[in-house]
Amino acid sequence: MTKTVAILAGDGIGPEIVAQAVNVLKTLQVSFGLDVQLVDGLIGGAAIDVTGVPLPAETLNLARRADAVLLGAVGGPKWDNLERDIRPERGLLAIRAELGLFANLRPAILYPELANASTLKPEVVSDLDLLIVRELTGGIYFGKPRGIRTLDNGEREGFNTLVYAEHEIERIAHVAFRSAEKRQGRVCSVDKANVLESTELWREVVTRVARDYPHVSLTHMYVDNAAMQLVRWPKQFDVMVTTNMFGDILSDLASQLTGSIGMLPSASLDAHGKGLYEPIHGSAPDIAGQNRANPLATLLSVAMMLRYSLGQMELADKVEQAVKQVLKDGLRTADIFSKGSDQTLVSTQEMGDAVVAVLRAAL
Ligand code: NAD
Ligand code: IPM
Ligand code: MN
Repeated sequence: MTKTVAILAGDGIGPEIVAQAVNVLKTLQVSFGLDVQLVDGLIGGAAIDVTGVPLPAETLNLARRADAVLLGAVGGPKWDNLERDIRPERGLLAIRAELGLFANLRPAILYPELANASTLKPEVVSDLDLLIVRELTGGIYFGKPRGIRTLDNGEREGFNTLVYAEHEIERIAHVAFRSAEKRQGRVCSVDKANVLESTELWREVVTRVARDYPHVSLTHMYVDNAAMQLVRWPKQFDVMVTTNMFGDILSDLASQLTGSIGMLPSASLDAHGKGLYEPIHGSAPDIAGQNRANPLATLLSVAMMLRYSLGQMELADKVEQAVKQVLKDGLRTADIFSKGSDQTLVSTQEMGDAVVAVLRAAL
């Protein structure tokens, strides 16, 4: 049966990188019989410009109907002064919440060819393969009360609430333990239980869930130490599970271990296999419109989509193999290019075309 994929390109470099992903999906359609229908929708600033809101009802309906959603990125200086509730980022938070996408998988894998692209020593990052499991629909991002209020003395204060219910912690912990069972069997739960009650409960619930997984080992780490350990010796980690905000920060940090934020894909999943797939990076306004962005995080997100939502394991492998091949061939966008070596500096489009060419050749 034909599967529907909603394509939400968004803002900044979003349309440039998503165009490469669409070319890959079309290649899989034409050459490998992938039975998908691609339907475009508006989100973020692009949606605000046309409809006045960052997540129009039409887009949400499309995403609900679709078997999977591919998203580029949202946001940019053009919309930064709008009222908070109608900024592009709210569209992204709303689609995650509305679709119940509580489990955000962010794999940080170092491709051997990029050992020199990382700012860390090659021996620190070589063979790195860690998975950050980030809780995505709770925590301080969504907790109430929130806002900015004026005090009696006329001063204003901003406030947010970090709250986690037991069921929210349980379900993300299960995702982490099940992931670890298929990997090296080690989960590190990252919290700030020494200071914050909400993560004291987090630690308690994760420890309880661990009893269902006798073959997985569980350790706990405070988030400040975890940030340091990720830079000191990242290979100590297999699966890291953490809250919405800690996961946001630690995954950007981990991406640099792999050479560039332009290499890290993600899957945001509900309880039933529905998924939204997007690179972890943003709309990169500093390089938007220049055909310089690295599209590989988005292409690797397509591979995750093929694997988790479309049941196409072989095609997922093919896309990942094609990405490895173009790196082996020495092709590099600016973010992963090192001077004076056997590398060719390529544009977004050239990188996308090269992946498509490798896929076609694999026919
Ligand atoms: P960013 O991730 O957009 O950019 C950070 C740095 O990384 C920039 O120097 C950028 O050029 C570089 N970079 C990012 N992606 C790249 C790629 N594919 N190839 C090469 N270089 C890349 O983060 P930011 O600058 O903090 O935020 C910019 C905007 O994006 C903001 O409006 C922010 O809210 C939004 N944002 C959106 C998402 C999302 O849609 N998922 C994620 C993060 C930030
Ligand atoms: C991400 C982004 C988003 C987040 C923003 C744009 C809402 O940084 O996907 O990592 O914080 O979740
Ligand atoms: Mn982020």
